[in-house]
Amino acid sequence: MTVPIDATATSAWAQLSSLRDSFTPDLRAWFAADPERVERFTLALGDLHVDLSKNLVTDEILAALVKLAHETSVAERYAAMISGVHINTTEDRAVLHTALRRPAGATPALVVDGQDVDADVQDVLAKVAAFAERVRSGDFAGVTGKKVTHVVNIGIGGSDLGPVMIYEALKPYADAGIEARFVSNIDPTDLAQKTADLDPETTLFIVASKTFTTLETLTNARLARDWLWTKLADAGVIGDDEQSRTDAVAHHFIAVSTALDKVAAFGIDTDNAFGFWDWVGGRYSVDSAIGTSLAIALGPDVFAELLAGFHTVDEHVRTTPLEANVPVLMGLLNIWYTNFLGSQSHAVLPYAQQLHRFAAYLQQLTMESNGKSVRWDGSPVTTDTGEVFWGEPGTNGQHAFYQLIHQGTRLIPADFIAFVNPAYPLEDDGRDVHGLFLANFLAQTKALAFGKTAAEVEAEGTTGPLVAARTFAGNRPTTSIFAPALTPAVLGQLIALYEHITFTQGVIWGINSFDQWGVELGKQLALQIAPAIEGDDEALAAQDASTRALLEYYRAHR
Ligand code: F6P
Repeated sequence: MTVPIDATATSAWAQLSSLRDSFTPDLRAWFAADPERVERFTLALGDLHVDLSKNLVTDEILAALVKLAHETSVAERYAAMISGVHINTTEDRAVLHTALRRPAGATPALVVDGQDVDADVQDVLAKVAAFAERVRSGDFAGVTGKKVTHVVNIGIGGSDLGPVMIYEALKPYADAGIEARFVSNIDPTDLAQKTADLDPETTLFIVASKTFTTLETLTNARLARDWLWTKLADAGVIGDDEQSRTDAVAHHFIAVSTALDKVAAFGIDTDNAFGFWDWVGGRYSVDSAIGTSLAIALGPDVFAELLAGFHTVDEHVRTTPLEANVPVLMGLLNIWYTNFLGSQSHAVLPYAQQLHRFAAYLQQLTMESNGKSVRWDGSPVTTDTGEVFWGEPGTNGQHAFYQLIHQGTRLIPADFIAFVNPAYPLEDDGRDVHGLFLANFLAQTKALAFGKTAAEVEAEGTTGPLVAARTFAGNRPTTSIFAPALTPAVLGQLIALYEHITFTQGVIWGINSFDQWGVELGKQLALQIAPAIEGDDEALAAQDASTRALLEYYRAHR
């Protein structure tokens, strides 16, 4: 196992600390003094135009950050990852989500641990595409022969957040009269509400679970199976016998998993199950067969374009020097804010209603990856890790939490994401509404960067204590990511961008960004507590005083 490099012991870290100690950010002055700043700090990444100029860095700071990436071997770790080294040390696994989007026929072929990864990936992709086409054309139909109109993806975490986020983002591409829905929560409300208006004869469930052991997903899958059987029997279209039930499952349930034996045990025909591999982390799996709901609802071509978008960014990371490598630079900026300027959270603010689940998706990607206190060799981390990622689409956020970003006491770096062309070009009284929307994006990043001085407030006629209240300090850092339109390729590029930002930070912190032991304890305890909920007094007595009291409250009020 490679011993992680302690970033805090590097010469770049010492240099950054001293730069921080004498640091007074002044975006107004920097912009005034340097007409080339925007050009120098703007980079292209595939179709993305990435403007880093409103970040709180000078050329000297950025150079020191790039030096930090060199001194912590970011490029070498990336090369190790994409070649299949087992960098997921706690699970002794390769980390190969980048292999999921290598184009067919890529050379040289990627062979890892004796497995022809390219061949396996292409084989599953072809199966998913062929199956998706059958559903879209009506060739694969429900048990009564009716065409599928709804696919319901049952999964959680990485088996839900990616598919739902992408479906919402690319819904304008849904062209086969098939709607996708997503059930994740074990709260029975989720399944009950999402199936309430569905016709069982035209509904296809996809049970998506890497492990096929996840409590929430298997519980929801069983509930869905009962729903299907009951509804079909009530409608008189299937009998109450075993064979009818088996036929119904064969026509209305498919699965995506690495554990095809468990899929079969659930009763799903493994001919209708799509596999992936233990080297795909859950939160990095949307570009595997986990995206089957997308291939069905949006079409295999859209899915292929999405993968091509991911690959564009993978290639950029692989071939671009660190000083021009966009995900690396954005990861380094996050290090600067987190470890040197004390920020604890990071806002992601898409000016696109279609990206309304993007922040939720990023929360798992970034926080399950980098919310760690030990490094990949088990030793404690040497600095803070893992910021809190959060956000809402503009302009909704403007009327909710932007106040705190503009005038609060905390430093909150923010990424603004916007698209030149809208999916739905609408006009209000002759005015392009999307243009107005974009004006808000530009106004917010401008206000955050440059603020409004007391003199400017006074010049508008304000006096007294109101002057301070209406003053904006500015120097609130933002990155602007602009693209021509929210196409499948652009979305793939955006997702891959954040995957590699997360990776860069993980490498610098010396952590394994690909395990998630922190979710295990709660899962174990839930299994121990469940009997107490169900009335087992021994299980109740075994709880701590607070949990016991809460259980007693539950029992008293049920
Ligand atoms: O939250 C823990 C986790 O293991 C995630 O990493 C994963 O995406 C999710 O549970 C779902 O797991 P599975 O796909 O195996 O059902």
